[in-house]
Parts: sequence; C-alpha cells; structure tokens
Amino acid sequence: MDLHLKNHVAVVTGGVNGIGLATVRAFAEEGVDVQIWDLHPDTERIGQNENSRYEVEISTARVDVVSSESVGQAVENLMEKSGQIDHLVHCAAVGSGKFGSPFTKLSPNDWKRVLDINIMGMVEVAHAVAPVMKAGKQGTMVFISSVAGQIGSPTDPPYSASKAANINFAQCMAQDLAGDGIRVNTVCPSMVQTDLNRAVWQSWNESRPKEDQLTYEEWGRQKCARMIPLARWQKPEDIADMVVFLSSERAAQVTGQTINVDGGFVMHC
Ligand SMILES: NC(=O)c1ccc[n+]([C@@H]2O[C@H](COP(=O)([O-])OP(=O)(O)OC[C@H]3O[C@@H](n4cnc5c(N)ncnc54)[C@H](O)[C@@H]3O)[C@@H](O)[C@H]2O)c1
Repeated sequence: MDLHLKNHVAVVTGGVNGIGLATVRAFAEEGVDVQIWDLHPDTERIGQNENSRYEVEISTARVDVVSSESVGQAVENLMEKSGQIDHLVHCAAVGSGKFGSPFTKLSPNDWKRVLDINIMGMVEVAHAVAPVMKAGKQGTMVFISSVAGQIGSPTDPPYSASKAANINFAQCMAQDLAGDGIRVNTVCPSMVQTDLNRAVWQSWNESRPKEDQLTYEEWGRQKCARMIPLARWQKPEDIADMVVFLSSERAAQVTGQTINVDGGFVMHC
C-alpha cells in the first residue's frame, strides 16, 4: 500500500527512544523527512546515527516540550529550513516513577511534574504547530496516549489522568481544526518494552516484599497473560505502523479517534 507520504516533513517529540524512535524510522521508510524533538542528552548523536541509515533527512532539535520558548524556536527553525510541517507525532511523556496503588501512596506533589510534562507539553506543542498547519490548510497530528487514559490504571494515577487529558484535548482539537483540513487522533498502547514501561515495573518491584519480586521480563509476561487477550507485548513498531497510517491520506476520513493498539486490552462495545 503506497501511503503517499514521500517528501513530507514530520516532527516526532520524544523521538530518541522507544515508540518515538520506531515512529521516526517508520516515517523515514515512507520517504518522510523527520525532525526529532527531545531533551535527551544523546539526541544529536542518535539523530545523526539514524540520518546515516536512511535516504531522507533525519534532523534533531534539543527541545523541552514544556517550554514555550524551546518549542516556539524549534518551529521557527524548522519552518526556515523546510518551509512546512505536515505531521506532528507527540510521544514525549513521563511517569511519576512511583507505584501508586492505592493512590494514597503518592502525594499531590508527585502529580505536578507528570501533569506538567504530559499535559502542558502536549498543549505547548499543539499551540506551536497548529498555526503552521492552519496556514497550509493541511496536516495531521497524532498524540500517543495510553489505555491507562481510558481505564484508570491504578499503577500510576497521575500518569493515567494525564493520558485521559491527552485523549480529551485531542478531540477538542480534532473538532476545531477539521475545517482547516487538519486531522487529529490519539493512539493508545498498553504494554511496550521501553524505558518508561521498565520504570513502571521497577517502582512496582521495589514496592513488593523480596520474595514476591519478579524480573522485568517475568512481570511483563504475567501481566500480558492476565490482561491482554493476545497475551503478548506490543512492539514499538506496532504502534509506529498505526501512527504512520493515521498520518497518511489512507486515513483521510479518520479524525478525533482514539485507536487502541493494545492486543485487545480495552474493548468497547
Ligand atoms: N511503553 C509503554 O508500555 C506505553 C504504554 C502506553 C502508552 N505509552 C506512551 O507512549 C509514548 C512514548 O513512550 P515510550 O514508552 O516510548 O517512552 P520512552 O521513555 O522510551 O520515551 C520517551 C521520550 O520522551 C522524551 N521526553 C521526556 N520528557 C521530555 C520533555 N520534557 N521534552 C522532550 N522530550 C521529553 C524522553 O527523553 C524519551 O526520549 C508516551 O506518551 C507514553 O505515555 C507507552
């Protein structure tokens, strides 16, 4: 299936790791120039390495998504360089790093950084990119949320709440921007082996008595078997494939949707 994405320009936030990096590669395979926005100290090195593997250009900008200044400067620089931003994929997010079941194990203070990065980061990026897409009367945005944003996952309540906010704000934007030819969707994974997911296991493991502790692999295997009908991890590439499809003309009638790529973890009737 030709996705007709050649010569487009995409921004992927949180693109040096995990699902973001898989998305960068999936776009590059479709002939899309990609700019990675991330604050990871290895951003430039990882970007250069990716750039050397593909015929398209993969560039980087050191961006903190909670900083209006940082995000605004990145949009300005990319517009000067490329003259267009066709696709935005927002992957940058964090967990609290603590095991929040019951929620009283956390304090209200544990919520602030998570809400700031996961909600305000989305808001900053959306506010900076939407005017550029509106001016061009076209564009797509995909926000990576989570099944935790739909079922109130008890492991990390602030993370879960922030992911619900991602879905809600994406729907607001989908309605507001439809008239300008811009589509906005969210994609929700459930279990993907990444740094973020490993941190969830680590905080769970540290909260258990020694005799109940599990390796990351065994914790994941048991969780997938118990909660996911397909009973296996999703790979970062599984999520990236859906993101790139939603960004393409093949999904021209899809906007305001929450698409679960979760092995059947959440089923709506
Ligand atoms: N891994 C899973 O099991 C899973 C499940 C459901 C949803 N998700 C969602 O998928 C998305 C990607 O997560 P991942 O698992 O690939 O995580 P990851 O930790 O591998 O990658 C997250 C990236 O975001 C970057 N980042 C963090 N804060 C930032 C900031 N302020 N500014 C710029 N960059 C920042 C990090 O440097 C990192 O490169 C997230 O939105 C996450 O909530 C992941």
